[in-house]
Amino acid sequence: MKTFMKDLEKRKILSEVALGNIPPDSMITNGTLFNVFTREFVKRQSLWIKDGRIAYVGPDHDPQRDGKTQVIDAEGRVLLPGLIEGHTHLNRSGMEEFIRHVIPGGITTVIMETIDFGLIAGREGIEYFVKGLEGQPIRFYYTVAPLCGLTSAEEINALTNKELQPFLRNPKCLGIGEIYWGNIFLKGKQGERIREFASMGLDVGKRVEGHTAGASGRKLQAYTDFGISSCHEPITEEEVLERLRLGYWVMIREGSIRKELPGVAGIFKRKIDFRRLTLSTDGVDPEDFLREGYLDASLRTALKLGVPPEVAYQMATINVAEHFRLDHLIGSLSPGKLADILIIPSPKVFLPQMVMCEGKVICREGNITVESKKVTFPKSMFDTVKVPDDIFSLIKGRAMAEPTGDLAKAGKVRVMELVTNLVTKETMIDLENPKESKEVTMLLALDRVGRGGAFMGLLKGFGLQRGAYGTTMSWDTICMFVVGCDMDSMKTVIRRLKEIGGGGVYAIGDEIVSEFPAPLCGFYSLKPMEILSAEIKNLEGCLKKNGVRLEKPTLTVDTLGTPAIPHLRITHHGYVRLKDRAVLPLEIE
Ligand SMILES: [Fe+2]
Repeated sequence: MKTFMKDLEKRKILSEVALGNIPPDSMITNGTLFNVFTREFVKRQSLWIKDGRIAYVGPDHDPQRDGKTQVIDAEGRVLLPGLIEGHTHLNRSGMEEFIRHVIPGGITTVIMETIDFGLIAGREGIEYFVKGLEGQPIRFYYTVAPLCGLTSAEEINALTNKELQPFLRNPKCLGIGEIYWGNIFLKGKQGERIREFASMGLDVGKRVEGHTAGASGRKLQAYTDFGISSCHEPITEEEVLERLRLGYWVMIREGSIRKELPGVAGIFKRKIDFRRLTLSTDGVDPEDFLREGYLDASLRTALKLGVPPEVAYQMATINVAEHFRLDHLIGSLSPGKLADILIIPSPKVFLPQMVMCEGKVICREGNITVESKKVTFPKSMFDTVKVPDDIFSLIKGRAMAEPTGDLAKAGKVRVMELVTNLVTKETMIDLENPKESKEVTMLLALDRVGRGGAFMGLLKGFGLQRGAYGTTMSWDTICMFVVGCDMDSMKTVIRRLKEIGGGGVYAIGDEIVSEFPAPLCGFYSLKPMEILSAEIKNLEGCLKKNGVRLEKPTLTVDTLGTPAIPHLRITHHGYVRLKDRAVLPLEIE
């Protein structure tokens, strides 16, 4: 039977339930129902559910029942649609663990970015990942990663236009994933590929997700001309407003990378329409997951900051659904929609006491009643750290190429200096000047997918006094990064990362001080979130004991090669100035 015919059959049944001719499978009675369309909390409402969908919403009265109808008495509590996370990433943990930890927070739909799988394992990686998203106890959609690298060398696994087509035909694919605004303006093939991706997405009616950090005025509009319709990067009220006025869905980010709500909360005092504001995490790391929660924690923050509950709930339900053109299915408690329903104590207290997904209760009082489906990946995706044994002979960079790797006597050099935990700048220093060379460590960028390129630069402001820390979880690049005070420790780190298939390792000399393996694509751990979180905490604690003062030092190193954050970044063939993508050596010309 054709898909639409099957759907029609279901809708006929729903219609009969609403008319009282067929009993519902279950019903929730006596709820205070949040109507996302009118922003009302309507008292004494019932929801009748059949085959995972809502058949009827209205005043309490008895439908026809056949003794099998399950009845849940909401006892006056608030009924909300399940939350929709519109922009997120798996963050170091595996998918099963992610699912286990988002369900109690009331998230029933997630739109996933697919960057890291595409980055390391290309088309096959994305295919396996999205296959794993199917058949889970909550609903997943995805955006297909455009892969925006600093230079085209980081985009070696990007999909071709031909490879992109089948993804775009998949109804679970809602569009092209976040496109860093700088990349759309790049000259030549690198920029043209991204521009074509955006247009191919638009051509089949899909969304193109944006990333406009710091853009404004004509540049922002020139970027928007390519059909981009969302952004999760605004950090001020003015930036939010400028994007809303251009027709963007602004996803206010409140997650582990940054928390924007306090900085943009003024927007809610304005007399404007909030229907294109949404709330997103952009990813939550294991420690924050366990300590605060996920999108539920972001909602609680919004409520605490005085965002009216009705606006906050729209931001995590109908507004997201409308952006992704899913409002015919999810985002509201209304007839014909999927029965994703939460019960919370009262409008201002977002603590889900029941989570239902497609008519099935999946969590009660914080206890999950379903198992996530085991996701499998091929062996090759656990063997992605490919580094030649004699890597140090391949390193570009003057003094640091010598096995002793002494920083001294290198004279005037270019360094990447940390301005904040994420933002960097290009600084020239004299290594012989003790004041200027204070807190300067080596920073190795190493192609870790098998071609052997490497560049040794310098990092200022990380603070490490002993040993070396290395990661394979580097954003938007195929590089491994190793920050080190001496070559022996750096060699130990590289060796160990190769042995464990990736993750994070801190070593002093020959000794591994702390580590957390992330063997899936060198990005994801297979351990329970609680163990992974403890491992990361331990490693970061060791870094802090050895001079690092940054709050999340592993995140800082992960981001050293991303074009998403200004100003100077690094890759295996040199530093890269984000503004003009100039590849720069250590030496000052
Ligand atoms: Fe993102």
